[in-house]
Amino acid sequence: MKRREFLNTSSKIFCACATGAGLSLLQSCSKNVVSSPIEDGQSEELEIDLNSDGFTPLLLNGGSVVTDGNVISSQGLILLRFSNTVKAFRNNCTHSGYDLMPFSNGVSVCTSGHGGRFNTNGQAISSPATGSLREYVTQLDQTLLIIYK
Ligand code: FES
Repeated sequence: MKRREFLNTSSKIFCACATGAGLSLLQSCSKNVVSSPIEDGQSEELEIDLNSDGFTPLLLNGGSVVTDGNVISSQGLILLRFSNTVKAFRNNCTHSGYDLMPFSNGVSVCTSGHGGRFNTNGQAISSPATGSLREYVTQLDQTLLIIYK
């Protein structure tokens, strides 16, 4: 059995929708998520309904959102719809830890202005960022996304 804690916070996340024409949309949204500490106390999971406010960009391939801190990552997550999966990365640039922008046209840009950028595998593609973003295991069942720590 899992003990579930319902979070019903109105916190800011950033969303982006990418289209073939390269348009992106950046907006402020609110979120409803459920966090579930797993009984062994060593892992946690975060459940997100992609139909909930602020997460609907993830219903479309290429859609991306950035969340506030949560049980998976205190720095927040950058989420990317990628075919039938949703990838989840820690929102923490590998250079100096600044936040990242949602993916647009397959690239996430660091907000620092230093020039760091990451591809859809979380790998740095321009300096001064190096290495890869931490990626978390996810599971997508219809519109229910579960992220595991
Ligand atoms: S903190 Fe991201 S490139 Fe410097």
